[in-house]
Amino acid sequence: MLERTRKLWQLQNRHEGDRLALFEAVAASLEAPRVLYPGSFVDITASFVWPSVTYVDMDRRARQFFDDRPGVDELLSGAGVDPRSREVDFVGADYREPLDLPAGGFGLLVSLYAGFVSEYCTEHLAVGGHLLVNPSHGDAAMASIDPRYRLDGVVWSRSGNYTVSHDDLDSYLVPKKDLQPTRDLLHERGRGITYTRSPFAYLFRREG
Ligand SMILES: C[S@@+](CC[C@H](N)C(=O)[O-])C[C@H]1O[C@@H](n2cnc3c(N)ncnc32)[C@H](O)[C@@H]1O
Repeated sequence: MLERTRKLWQLQNRHEGDRLALFEAVAASLEAPRVLYPGSFVDITASFVWPSVTYVDMDRRARQFFDDRPGVDELLSGAGVDPRSREVDFVGADYREPLDLPAGGFGLLVSLYAGFVSEYCTEHLAVGGHLLVNPSHGDAAMASIDPRYRLDGVVWSRSGNYTVSHDDLDSYLVPKKDLQPTRDLLHERGRGITYTRSPFAYLFRREG
C-alpha cells in the first residue's frame, strides 16, 4: 500500500468501526446487489459490506486512493474480505454532471455529507431501490420533497450502535419551525432543516 493511501485511510477512518456498523445495519435491512456512492471520498468501508460498489468523487485524492488497487485490496483483506469477491469501481467526476453509469442500475444510493446527491443521481437508482441519506447537507430534506421517494425507514445511532426502524414513519420529517423545505430554499441554505425527531439517517424507497 502506498503511504499516501495509508494516510488517506487514516483520515477517513478516524472513528474506527463506526461506518462499518452503519453499513452493516443498513445491509441487514435491505437487498442491494449494486451500490452507488457519490461523494464517497475514500470511504471504502462500503465494500467491506457490499459486493459491488461504484464510488464517485471529484477530489483528486479519492482518485489516487482508488488507483492504488493493491492498497485497496490490502484494506479489504485487513477487514476480512476477499478482494476477489469485490467489484470496486471508481468514477472521478462531479456527480452533478451526467455520469456514464446505467439508468436504474443500482439498488442502493448512498448520500452522506456530500451535498445534494439524491437530486442528481436518483436516475441511476432502480425503482424499488433505496436511498441512504443523512440530513447534514440538506439531502434528506431534498429527498423528502422529491415525489420519486417515499420514506421507508430511519437509522438511529446510539452509543456506536446503529439500528434501522420502520415504525411510526409519519412522526419523522416534521419541521420544528414553520419552515417547509423547497428545492430553492435548500440550495440557498446548503444544509438541512431541523425536525422534531433526529435520527442519524433516513432510508427512502424509490417509487417512481
Ligand atoms: C465531507 S466528504 C464525505 C465523504 C464520505 N461520504 C463520508 O461520509 O465519509 C464529501 C465528499 O464529497 C465530495 N463531493 C462533494 N460534492 C461533489 C460533487 N458534486 N461531485 C463529486 N464529489 C463531490 C467531496 O469531494 C468530498 O470528497
